Amino acid sequence: MPADLSAIDKAKFVAALRAVDHVESGMKLGLGTGSTAAWMVRCLAERIRDEGLRVVGVPTSIRTAELAQSLGVPITTLDEAGWLDLTIDGADEFDPELNLIKGGGAALLREKIVATASDQMIVIADAAKQVAQLGAFPLPVEVIPFGWKATQAQIEEMLVSMDVLARDVRLRRAGDDPVLTDQSNYILDLHLRRIGNPRQLSLVLNQIPGVVENGLFIDICDKVVIGHGDGRVQVR
Ligand code: 5RP
Repeated sequence: MPADLSAIDKAKFVAALRAVDHVESGMKLGLGTGSTAAWMVRCLAERIRDEGLRVVGVPTSIRTAELAQSLGVPITTLDEAGWLDLTIDGADEFDPELNLIKGGGAALLREKIVATASDQMIVIADAAKQVAQLGAFPLPVEVIPFGWKATQAQIEEMLVSMDVLARDVRLRRAGDDPVLTDQSNYILDLHLRRIGNPRQLSLVLNQIPGVVENGLFIDICDKVVIGHGDGRVQVR
């Protein structure tokens, strides 16, 4: 274990390390995005260097691609790879059914495409990401910049019709400018506090024309590896 890790980084590191145990030579891997997924890429790089593990990764963001390349993890595109054996990624929240909120790092679209093109998805997370019900974390929704205010209004209207009480929909910004995803889209963050029916909400959101994809991952994750600050690991 790297020296002098904070409790939160130790939790992320031990989860990543355990998940990387599932990787075998010859696998095609989806490489997630975020601080926990970055630990996974580092652990993978170590196995490639120390054990001669032969894998190829499909990064879910430009950031992850740059990290993988800098550490000597071979990468390719999803179209080259065709289908993946395993995706390992982080999450912003997971519930007892292993439904997820993702997109805190604005990479939800590529993350969902990659995860659903994989035989298996393992989520790595610190224990704080575990919730009884999704929704305390604002739900990211990737939208087309053209007419984004009309899309925002339609999302708000839909939330009213679904009797969602908290329904604050905010454009994600970095300073004065909208955050741009790797596809040059915007992110709307839906502050809902709790999501009663994530499956229905996901389906309804994706019916709105300006919506590209939402950050609810329903029936996609197979396993969650939970890391704790004291170095313990649990698997769900
Ligand atoms: C990026 C994501 C990340 O996986 C999620 O935000 C978790 O990030 P972190 O591991 O840094 O807490 O969905 O779009």
